[in-house]
Amino acid sequence: MKILVTGASGKLGCYLIKGQGVQGCSRRGPHRFDLTDPALESHLEAIGPQAVVHAAALSAIHDCLSRPEQADLVNHQASARLARWCSQQGVRLVYVSTDMVFDGESAPYHEDSLAQPLSEYGRSKLRGEQAVLDQGHLVARVALMVGPALGDGQSYYDQLVASLRARKPVSLFQDEWRGMISYEDAADGLLRLAVGSGTGVVHLAGPRLSRYEMGCMLAAQLGAPELVSAGQRSDYAAPEPRPRDLTMLSRRREELLPEWQPRTVEQQIPAWLA
Ligand SMILES: NC(=O)c1ccc[n+]([C@@H]2O[C@H](COP(=O)([O-])OP(=O)(O)OC[C@H]3O[C@@H](n4cnc5c(N)ncnc54)[C@H](OP(=O)(O)O)[C@@H]3O)[C@@H](O)[C@H]2O)c1
Repeated sequence: MKILVTGASGKLGCYLIKGQGVQGCSRRGPHRFDLTDPALESHLEAIGPQAVVHAAALSAIHDCLSRPEQADLVNHQASARLARWCSQQGVRLVYVSTDMVFDGESAPYHEDSLAQPLSEYGRSKLRGEQAVLDQGHLVARVALMVGPALGDGQSYYDQLVASLRARKPVSLFQDEWRGMISYEDAADGLLRLAVGSGTGVVHLAGPRLSRYEMGCMLAAQLGAPELVSAGQRSDYAAPEPRPRDLTMLSRRREELLPEWQPRTVEQQIPAWLA
């Protein structure tokens, strides 16, 4: 099956394009176009995919806060156009959404839990979700992704490991939790969803973990547990409220991907550090 991945140059996209039969697009690379381009539909027709994993987004929270119109244009309006084109062509679409559509006050979250985002990023992604669902497609809400970056630039995980390897102390939130999942497993799950069936919403997440707990695991493997200290959310003046606990559970994943389960971060750390 010919699968098109949008956002192919991004951290998740670099993992997605390793999949079989996958072609990527972004504003860089071989299929190069802006999703907000008025000629979007002709770019899509030229590629002719049978399924699309839509991972492109204005994904940095601070960028969405400082440029809310651009966040809406990319995360919502371009997603709506893409979803419409896919419906007209009979192409399956998987929209990559986020745990940040929840407010973090009543975890764990299921697919039918109330979405009430606290950030401009979360609100723009939720509008994108709605547009995609209106066209009868699948929304995959992915938890915070971790692991080494394959392309240019560093992931949050890479920065953390670089600090620990340089013997720099780090303070990490002990009182904020996410259902962390690796980029690799998220990409694998998304590609399985792209070749599968089912519409609506599905959650892809690992078990509840704080950044502090992850930092302790990494530091222990690197032989420097003393470098990680427990930080508090109250130590950090965030420009937007931060969701406290975004643990996600899933009933639908068992239905759509019955044989599949993401690995824990702990299971993958030794291979990442090797
Ligand atoms: N990172 C996480 O932990 C996390 C968690 C849950 C969900 N998500 C979702 O997962 C997806 C991927 O996240 P990521 O961390 O891999 O993001 P990323 O590294 O910031 O990558 C974003 C991608 O979107 C592309 N893009 C942005 N604006 C575009 C435009 N106007 N036209 C075409 N392409 C555009 C970028 O390509 P160019 O700049 O090269 O054009 C890049 O390839 C996003 O939908 C995000 O909301 C992320």
